[in-house]
Amino acid sequence: MSEAVSIAPPEGKLLVLTPGLGAVATTFIAGVEAVRQGRARPYGSLTQLQTIRLGRRSAGRNPLIKEFLPLAELDDLVFGAWDIFPDDAYEAAMRAQVLEERDLKPLEDFLRTIRPMPAAFDRQYVRRLDGPNVKKARTKKELAEMLREDIRRTIEETGATRAVMIWCGSTEVYTRPSDCHRSIEAFEAGLKANDPSITPSQLYAYAAIMEGVPYANGAPNLSADVPALEQLAEEKGVPIAGKDFKTGQTMLKTVVAPAFKMRMLGVRGWFSTNILGNRDGEVLDDIDSFRAKEVTKSGVLDTILQPDLYPELYGNLYHKVRINFYPPRGDAKESWDNIDIFGWMGYPMQIKINFLCRDSILAAPIVLDLALFLDLAARAGLKGIQEWLSFYFKSPHVQEGHVPEHDLFIQHIRLKNTLRVLGGESPITHLSEEFELYENLR
Ligand SMILES: NC(=O)c1ccc[n+]([C@@H]2O[C@H](COP(=O)([O-])OP(=O)(O)OC[C@H]3O[C@@H](n4cnc5c(N)ncnc54)[C@H](O)[C@@H]3O)[C@@H](O)[C@H]2O)c1
Repeated sequence: MSEAVSIAPPEGKLLVLTPGLGAVATTFIAGVEAVRQGRARPYGSLTQLQTIRLGRRSAGRNPLIKEFLPLAELDDLVFGAWDIFPDDAYEAAMRAQVLEERDLKPLEDFLRTIRPMPAAFDRQYVRRLDGPNVKKARTKKELAEMLREDIRRTIEETGATRAVMIWCGSTEVYTRPSDCHRSIEAFEAGLKANDPSITPSQLYAYAAIMEGVPYANGAPNLSADVPALEQLAEEKGVPIAGKDFKTGQTMLKTVVAPAFKMRMLGVRGWFSTNILGNRDGEVLDDIDSFRAKEVTKSGVLDTILQPDLYPELYGNLYHKVRINFYPPRGDAKESWDNIDIFGWMGYPMQIKINFLCRDSILAAPIVLDLALFLDLAARAGLKGIQEWLSFYFKSPHVQEGHVPEHDLFIQHIRLKNTLRVLGGESPITHLSEEFELYENLR
């Protein structure tokens, strides 16, 4: 046992803010309310369902994570959102067509109370969308100040004691860090000068951090993962995490790829394609938004397979990722993977994975877990980049110089060990119980 980290109790209400009130955000909010009303179960959520082993396996200590650590209760969650469309959460959920009317109808009164605040939006960064519910200001600095004011007002109106923000907005176009992202001073000067390299999602991230609100980015675009905002998060003592929720095809990729490497099986080619027909798919039909997604979806194999260490197994891997907008499918995405592997004496084999998933059904519990874990992190005094939350992301945001971990199993061990340490327990090494010296001893 180690000494438990001092964690402030989750007193009062926790406000979960989402820039974007589309398919993912509404499925998350509706799901939380359905669980609270006893109409549904929170499948997919570690904070609600998973246990955590403490000490030796034979000791049989397996409390639920939410019993082991002081997480906010679902009953204490309140919600706020921004969107470029004025539809309330009920209308937006109906339009998203993820959940069926028979599931949404009983939640209607509640969902109608969540009306999106006008967004900080610019079509330059999400070209396929345009909507009327948008803030007007002369400078990005003014927009950021308006967002800060929104956060303060919503906290007051909902009676919350604290807040977290999870970006559930559209994927912005692919951008790289520029000079104004180097330091917070340069960033703030850029806000005043309307620097085009500052994206709307960065305005939200900046506003959140300035207000002491933890921030996570569920989309693949550049957001809080720039030195200026990392520095600000450290200075303000705010946890941040990102990026791009790891849900369907990539989640499976980071499960299957480690198996090949563990068994020293080679991979010659990996072709991944998808069809999806929701608004996210429409946004990704724009080549520059797709580029942001392509980068996060493609990056996972290299760090798992380590072609630099195993050139003969993975040095010539041809990896191709395709996303196709196909309206008839709506949110019911279908993905196909064809994997060409080789084994003993170089003999080839093939694996086909066909995942008929539901994008937002997979993403909603991730939003919930991130909200609760980021709030826990804040109350535990953790600040800056939260690498232990890599488990939830396609492209984990890590500190400068750190190599991101993509292997879902390693990410999971790290997540659970971080929780153990926060709760004053020793990390688990999975060595046999006979290894007294190593097992469960500090
Ligand atoms: N499994 C998944 O669903 C999954 C996985 C990984 C990442 N994501 C990402 O999550 C995000 C949300 O996905 P979705 O399916 O809900 O998309 P969606 O299109 O249904 O919802 C996004 C919403 O964001 C709004 N928006 C865009 N720019 C905004 C801004 N500047 N301020 C406020 N609102 C803004 C749009 O109007 C839209 O209503 C996307 O970026 C997507 O790539 C989703």
